[in-house]
Amino acid sequence: MSRKTNRQIQLAARPEGFPKGTDFRLVELPIPPVAAGQFLVRSIFLSVDPYMRGRMNDRKSYVEPQEIDRVMGGGVVGEVVESQNEKFNVGDVVLGMFGWQEYAVSDGKEVRVVKTGAAPSSTALGVLGMPGLTAYCGFLDICNPQAGETVVVSGAAGAVGSVVGQIAKIKGCRVVGVAGTDAKVAHLVNDLGFDAAMNYKNTDDYYGKLKELCPAGIDCYFDNVGGPITDAVFGHLNEKGRIAICGQISQYNAQQLEKGPRLLWKLIEKQAKVEGFLVFQYVSQFRAAKQQLSDWVESGELKYRERIVEGLENAPRAFFEMLQGENIGKQLVKISEPSV
Ligand SMILES: NC(=O)c1ccc[n+]([C@@H]2O[C@H](COP(=O)([O-])OP(=O)(O)OC[C@H]3O[C@@H](n4cnc5c(N)ncnc54)[C@H](OP(=O)(O)O)[C@@H]3O)[C@@H](O)[C@H]2O)c1
Repeated sequence: MSRKTNRQIQLAARPEGFPKGTDFRLVELPIPPVAAGQFLVRSIFLSVDPYMRGRMNDRKSYVEPQEIDRVMGGGVVGEVVESQNEKFNVGDVVLGMFGWQEYAVSDGKEVRVVKTGAAPSSTALGVLGMPGLTAYCGFLDICNPQAGETVVVSGAAGAVGSVVGQIAKIKGCRVVGVAGTDAKVAHLVNDLGFDAAMNYKNTDDYYGKLKELCPAGIDCYFDNVGGPITDAVFGHLNEKGRIAICGQISQYNAQQLEKGPRLLWKLIEKQAKVEGFLVFQYVSQFRAAKQQLSDWVESGELKYRERIVEGLENAPRAFFEMLQGENIGKQLVKISEPSV
């Protein structure tokens, strides 16, 4: 291929509170040479995810902090355009942690060829990728939903939440979503088959609204957001209720720990359980989970949406907009066209 410059987005500063444009920097660098055993990937789609906000803090967590002045890490679907690695051929569409950049040189470690069947390759970052696996593995394992039970999902119109709610419907549950716009509420009920949904930005009375939408109480709660929505759910838990703590996005930009009501006694009263999880703990189940998700997508039982922002330079904006709830379904950034 003719040599071009690589453009990449680096983290320029650790955000304080909600991130801003100056926390990122767009730089142009030469594309590194491809050595024996390596290949060059041209990015097609990159993923912006809530966990990236946590990595921007200088705090040790389950992943190392994002380094300053280095390319922003993140999942990418791209195409191999040059290869000196016998396992990866020119034209292969691959998934890897190539980061927010147009080109990446890889040795193939933790890279896989994308197999999404009839679904487009972008789904390897969404419904058939990490978010879909998070929904499938975390929800089924921790919530163990039974037909007829009431399931509440927060962050319900997002990449993970929309899959959780639809799986709960497939399992015969009554499903109630919590999301941040009327358009999302309409989408959940009209397009995804949720039984009911609430716009948490239209009311301060989360407890009262959940009471109205969950007259038989709540058996399972899949929590993507934390904060006062989760507090309100605690008040409606049924006996032997199960809560899966997947994410706490309402807290990710907080500069101080919020003080909330202390509700753990509810777990005693209801003999309920709360369990946090990380998708990677289920790695041994990924193959089977992906197959099931793929089958449901193909049969039309599992629907998905993607919100696509064009252009590498707009990746920070796409990230901010995802944090602000602009996305229905998976938020992606399109970097280039696939060649086929
Ligand atoms: N445990 C794991 O292994 C794992 C893996 C993947 C993701 N996660 C977590 O799962 C959650 C969802 O991730 P995702 O990739 O599917 O993102 P997403 O739901 O597609 O996008 C984030 C959504 O969060 C909502 N949100 C933002 N601020 C909020 C607030 N203060 N209160 C309530 N909702 C708020 C917004 O929707 P609204 O319009 O509804 O506000 C926004 O669309 C995140 O918390 C993420 O960290 C965990």
